[in-house]
Amino acid sequence: MRSVRLLVAAAFVLMYTYTFAQSASVTFEAQTRVFRMEGGNVSYAFGINDANELQPLYWGARLSAGDPLGPAHRNQGHASFDLPSGSTLQEFPGWGEGLYYEPALKITFPDGNRDLVLHYVDHAIDGNQLKVRLKDIEREVYVELQYQIDPKTGILARSAVITNKTSAPLMIEEAAAASWSLPNSKDYWLYYLTGRWAGEWNVQHEAIRPGARVLESRRGSTGHQNNPWFAIERGDHHDQDTGDVWFGALAWSGSWRITIQQDVLDQVRITGGYNPFDFGYKLAPGEQLETPVFYGGFTLHGIGGASRLLHQFELARILPQAPKPRPRPVLYNSWEATTFNVTEQGQEALAEKAAKIGVERFVIDDGWFGQRKDDHAGLGDWYVNKQKFPNGLKPLIEKVHSLGMDFGIWVEPEMVNPDSDLYRKHPDWVLNFAGRPRTEGRNQLVLNLARQDVRDFIFGFLDKLLSENDIAFLKWDDNRNWSEPGWPAVAPDEQKEVYVRYMQNLYSILKELRAKHPNVEIEDCSGGGGRVDLGILHYTDEVWPSDNTDPFDRLSIQDGFTYAYTPGVMMAWVTDSPNWVNRRSTSLEYRFLSSMQGSLGVGANLNLWNDEDFATAKHMIEEYKQVRDTVQHGALYRIISPENGSEESVTESVADNHDQAVVFAFLHSSQMGHPFPRVFLRGLDRNAQYRLHWITERPEGHLPESASGAYWMDHGVDLDLRGDFQATAFRLDRMQ
Ligand code: GLA
Repeated sequence: MRSVRLLVAAAFVLMYTYTFAQSASVTFEAQTRVFRMEGGNVSYAFGINDANELQPLYWGARLSAGDPLGPAHRNQGHASFDLPSGSTLQEFPGWGEGLYYEPALKITFPDGNRDLVLHYVDHAIDGNQLKVRLKDIEREVYVELQYQIDPKTGILARSAVITNKTSAPLMIEEAAAASWSLPNSKDYWLYYLTGRWAGEWNVQHEAIRPGARVLESRRGSTGHQNNPWFAIERGDHHDQDTGDVWFGALAWSGSWRITIQQDVLDQVRITGGYNPFDFGYKLAPGEQLETPVFYGGFTLHGIGGASRLLHQFELARILPQAPKPRPRPVLYNSWEATTFNVTEQGQEALAEKAAKIGVERFVIDDGWFGQRKDDHAGLGDWYVNKQKFPNGLKPLIEKVHSLGMDFGIWVEPEMVNPDSDLYRKHPDWVLNFAGRPRTEGRNQLVLNLARQDVRDFIFGFLDKLLSENDIAFLKWDDNRNWSEPGWPAVAPDEQKEVYVRYMQNLYSILKELRAKHPNVEIEDCSGGGGRVDLGILHYTDEVWPSDNTDPFDRLSIQDGFTYAYTPGVMMAWVTDSPNWVNRRSTSLEYRFLSSMQGSLGVGANLNLWNDEDFATAKHMIEEYKQVRDTVQHGALYRIISPENGSEESVTESVADNHDQAVVFAFLHSSQMGHPFPRVFLRGLDRNAQYRLHWITERPEGHLPESASGAYWMDHGVDLDLRGDFQATAFRLDRMQ
């Protein structure tokens, strides 16, 4: 009897969890004036308080329908030095009535008034979407807050539309997509990502203290320096998969800012949107400005759980092929092998070798166009270089197709070399301040995409390239950040709109190209990982996380990358050894295993390989194809992190249906004879039997051929890794 009751209870819990995990709801309770949004395992609530402001009430694990939330009450402040406007958390605070914290919106009106106080007007609910309209207490400025909650992950999409219904233009000086709030606590820990060219995706972890931590880019582009992502954990958990974690990511590829601020009452606000530095957007009467989207989520399953939710969400909701992106093909790219010296013959020879090892896509990189001998000339002149390709691209494309691969090509559409026909004809097309020097980076200048003629030129040449050639893939590069961000062709008080209008046009080019050439896939690259964010990922299928292809450095680069982004978009090439970055030598097998943790590519000079190398590569690519769905679309567990100088690192990816798991393990350097720590797997079905298959050579020792999920998770596996730069990998397949 007892066990029957237990079974019923278990079934109920399962049903309940399942219903939660699949459903979303948005409600408004008129009596308490509380909005509630539920999705996945998350509840989010805010109320209209006694001052008619929108005040956050709850963001966290899903609550029961009847749980009391609200009504919202304005906090009267701590003392005369802390006024109610700042002491009370707000969903979208205007800068006014003595707000000392980061506002979501700051406006200067033509009469010099800069006070903005936003009060509730009305709202509309439509399925899992909510729109709430706010208005300044006196002026006809409206802000529509938009919310959409994802039924599966509980991730909220938030943005705002600002409308000027006054009779005069106004100047927006600061506009966030959202302000998120956490309850008061002195025990929050922040994760964020930093980096530089060839050294991206460093995970930073620190206690949140009173004051502000500003993450930003002033570069006109997302930037390598910070990435628009954060996660905040309550308490400092050492286990990746436990703990309450809030996280967010901004979908914007231009200058951005996220401020994490702990106030005098230990409340934490996270405000993010356009970077207000040098920002100015003139809104004429009747005009609107729509902010980017700021996504935010919550999990009870630690920083690892936060990443997994984001990965799921990106695959199902963000990527252009969502909800079911095609697995990334194994590609070959000759950049590191040949740099600018691309020729028809040379590329064909590489293509033949690439096809033999199982490569599915052949990509020709920089150097095929204009007078492009090196990085001093040619950008902007998008015609095929006749010395290198006397018969155009067609013979190479046909050759690649005849070898059973599809064809991809590199472009850098937003840039121009001063030594180019394009620049000689249109020197006014670049970002510049009239009469001032134009600072070059990699001998190039940035075209001003905010201009309609530049936008049309870029769309036009890409459309022509894709219409005239059978191209399946573009690698879209962007090899410098902005300087002198002037736009002399428009009125002085409109020039700062370049920060918004450039990006809007970039997105619109990508959108239109995809609509016209629906089979073309696009990789986003910016000297490596300089422009990776949920904005660009809406239009691109994959990204190049770093120019650093050292397989050991890549372990931490890739680890950091996956805090915010799915391994399903993370390209990783196997290149030559010693690697150009650190002059480090590693085995071909080690290099493959490092790259197989993401979307596998090969970038080595195949002309230098011997038979054994080809055999190793063929074997590893075959093995990769058996696990790529799991690696690219499964759940990632960081079993041992490579961060902080760890000697070892281990990742595990588990298929969504728990039928397969794949484990990659790396050793930097054995010391004092310490054995490799036992590896305890996660995320398996405890009761299922799994068969062990070695991707690398089977190691010595007593490892079972098969065992239960419980065994692999609780008993674990001893891996006999010793030496320097050693690696091994295996997969587990559910037995029927
Ligand atoms: C950037 C990219 C490289 C390569 C070169 C070509 O640095 O990140 O992969 O495409 O440009 O110039």
